[in-house]
This record gives sequence, structure tokens and C-alpha cells, in this order.
Amino acid sequence: MSISVKDLQTYKREGRRFAMLTAYDYTTARILDEAGVPVILVGDSLGMTMLGYPDTLAVTVDEMLHHIRAVRRGVHDALVVGDMPFMSYHASIEDGIRNAGRFLQEGGANAVKLEGAGRVIELTQRLTEMGIPVMAHLGLTPQYVNQFGGFKVQGKSEEAAETIQRDALALQAAGAFSLVLEGIPADLGRIVTRSLTIPTIGIGAGADCDAQVLVIQDMLGLSGARVPKFVKRFADLRGEIQRAVGEYINEVEVGTFPGPEHSYGMGTSAVPKVAEEAVGEGAVYGGATPPAKAQG
Ligand code: KIV
Repeated sequence: MSISVKDLQTYKREGRRFAMLTAYDYTTARILDEAGVPVILVGDSLGMTMLGYPDTLAVTVDEMLHHIRAVRRGVHDALVVGDMPFMSYHASIEDGIRNAGRFLQEGGANAVKLEGAGRVIELTQRLTEMGIPVMAHLGLTPQYVNQFGGFKVQGKSEEAAETIQRDALALQAAGAFSLVLEGIPADLGRIVTRSLTIPTIGIGAGADCDAQVLVIQDMLGLSGARVPKFVKRFADLRGEIQRAVGEYINEVEVGTFPGPEHSYGMGTSAVPKVAEEAVGEGAVYGGATPPAKAQG
């Protein structure tokens, strides 16, 4: 069943916690959707995880759209949220509206995410009025890395905590349907969560947020050696990929792969026989047969 922003409000009312994960490509999105992840964020973190930039600042709207479309094609049930990149909503409200519209129209996203408060509060209100749901994002917002002087925990002083609390309430009043809280003390995460009727989604914001989000590369152990304190590695796929690739290299080199079971015999007509053998769920290159009801 497709998840909507209204479902997330219901989860909050019912005290039901939920998980969000990032995805940037068709294959991963399909796996996460089938695993039952209710909210998939195409984060601008793809600048680092997919494109190898040092931070998120260089990511463009077109790069985001390319990845959002791929994720959309892999998702049937989850709510797909597209992260608006740096400078796509900063110069003017009109810019923000135009780019957010592209995320829904051209990318097939169900909602957009915006970092910060200030003028973003007015933009949130305008987008919500137009039917573009907004996920807000406060705390250690990576697009402000230069302002913060690095990736540092935010909201530690009383004044900074009060600002986050005030901004959270203003974004909720403007119509945001949820709020990501990143890199803030756990106590502040709890206080903000309790003060809101919309769900908070924490990343490094303690256990009392209504939901949690992690970057998929981090939680699967695909990132490098250094990850933030808030990351838990639920798997070591980096190690597993290295092991599998090493085994493949070795088998190719010694000639044990491909074996007879991976090779075709001479049939009456080689081409149709190959096609026939290839037909079936998951038999196309990469097992990329689209799900029956894939959208986009
Ligand atoms: O870009 C991103 O992936 C994010 C999440 C970590 C919240 O903003």
C-alpha cells in the first residue's frame, strides 16, 4: 500500500516509530521498497556517496533529478522525498517553487526536503499551499557547513537550542509534514519531538525522535573507515564486496569461471535460444526486470 504524508501524521498520533533511508538508484530503491521502508529520501548526500564530491554544495538540480527518476522507477509503496540541493531555493521564492515543481513533475517525487528556517518558512508555506509537501530539516544542516565552520553538533547552547525549537514550531505552522533533526543533543531532540504534532526524523538527534534516518552506504558498511558517531553499521557490505570480487578475479584467472553451468550449448538457432533462456523474472542483465506496478 502506498505511503502518503497523511500516513506519517497518523503514525505520530499513534506513537508508531518508523524508519527512513536514503537511496539514489533503481536497484537499491527497489530493495528498500520491497523490504518495507516507508520513506525513501533521495538525499543530496548523493554528492558524496554517488558522485565523490567533498560535501553536498556542488550538487545540482539536474543531478538530483537524474537520481530521483531512477529511485521513482524502483519504488512502488514508499513515499519518495527529493532533497532540494544548495542554491535551488536560496536566491528567491520563485526559484524554490519552480525547482520543487520539477522534482514532482519531472522526477516523480512525492515531496521535497528543505534545509533551514528563515525564508524557508515562507517557502514551506507557499509550497504546501500549492500541494507540494515539505519535509523540513534543522540542526546540523550540511548545506550550512561553511556557516557552521565544519560538521559540528548544533543546538548545544541554550540560545541555539531555543532557536531550533522556535524554528521547528514555525515550520510546522507553515505546513511542513515532518522534520529531520540532524546532529543535535538527544535532550533537544526529545524536547522538539514532544512539542510537535508532525513526526521528527532523527539522525544523530537521540532515540526519542519519532523516526530515524541513515544514509544507506553508512548503515550497510559501504562507506570508508570514518563515519559519524551516530552511524550504526548493520552490515559490512564493503568487506563482502571485496571478498566476492577477489573470488571472481581468482576464478577468472585460474579458469574455474565460467563453468559449464554458465555456458550455452549449440542449439538449432543460437540467438532465439539465448533469448528464450534469458526470459523470466530477474533474468535480464542485472536482474533488472521492473516490478509489475513500477511507476514513472
Ligand atoms: O542528504 C541526506 O541524505 C540527508 C539525510 C542524511 C537527512 O539530508
